Amino acid sequence: MKKTVLAFSRVSPEMAERLQQDFNVIIPDPKKGDLNEQFNEALPHTHGMIGAGRKLGREQLESAKQLEVVSSISVGYDNYDVGYLSERGIMLTNTPDVLTESTADLGFSLIMSSARRVAELDAYTKAGNWKRSIEAPHFGTDVYGKTLGIVGMGNIGAAVARRGRLGFNMPILYSGNSRKTAIEQELGAQFRTLDQLLAEADFVCLVVPLSEKTKHLISTRELGLMKKSAILVNIARGPIVDEPALIEALQSGTIRGAGLDVYEKEPLPESPLFKLSNAVTLPHIGSATHETRQAMADRAFDNLRAALLGEKPQDLVNQQVWKG
Ligand code: DGY
Repeated sequence: MKKTVLAFSRVSPEMAERLQQDFNVIIPDPKKGDLNEQFNEALPHTHGMIGAGRKLGREQLESAKQLEVVSSISVGYDNYDVGYLSERGIMLTNTPDVLTESTADLGFSLIMSSARRVAELDAYTKAGNWKRSIEAPHFGTDVYGKTLGIVGMGNIGAAVARRGRLGFNMPILYSGNSRKTAIEQELGAQFRTLDQLLAEADFVCLVVPLSEKTKHLISTRELGLMKKSAILVNIARGPIVDEPALIEALQSGTIRGAGLDVYEKEPLPESPLFKLSNAVTLPHIGSATHETRQAMADRAFDNLRAALLGEKPQDLVNQQVWKG
């Protein structure tokens, strides 16, 4: 008998067709009524789940007694209660590597956009405000040769650092749990404590995973350590930054600006950030290119299929549940 797969987001018709070759596939459909109801009804029959952007833990999965695998179409897995899944022997897989470069591109575009006020001045031009040459109140700040601080030198952090070092001649500082000697050798990157990095960097790029330890890693004290001329970029997860503290820092000029792709609550509801010309606000698009989203979907498909057919998936997060 075919196993059942429940798709909880971002599943294209093409992926649905591929899944249907091996599995019964349930895709909640807004035309058929309440999505949550359809999701909950499917849970007791579900062996595998695929998607992104949904919190899944004890409360949501209690009735999914036959669940074997959750295949997330994302690299980050802070939406899932890994402890609970592991306790139940449910595999969790993610999609590392395939989004590294596009997310780093986005990080760098936030650095550029914040420094050169690209989004703000685009809106200015389109609003018909360009009547004469731009003067000092609208000038930006240079990127080339400035110091780039990477908080969390994983794959994406390293890819942002490479862009900065090789493309923009930026000295690289980084902080994190461990020294990365390969990156130190490749890019001349220098290790700092977080406090030192915040005090020295012109651009601080957050690329750490969200955990209990990194929640509100950047709050009033940390923002106060940054240079008044510095820019904070967050392409990791919203809750790493204490958002009200950041808003206050942007309003009072504690730092120059921020480039944000992620927020404490997503989608970002009405927010004081919308009124701040020194904040660039994007709708969580780190991996949102056609090529990368396709690659992520393919990788998640492979992980799900392998797990349900009894093979070890390539990107198993909770390795300890694999019985081999
Ligand atoms: C991820 O994969 O974790 C990115 O944030 C895109 O959702």
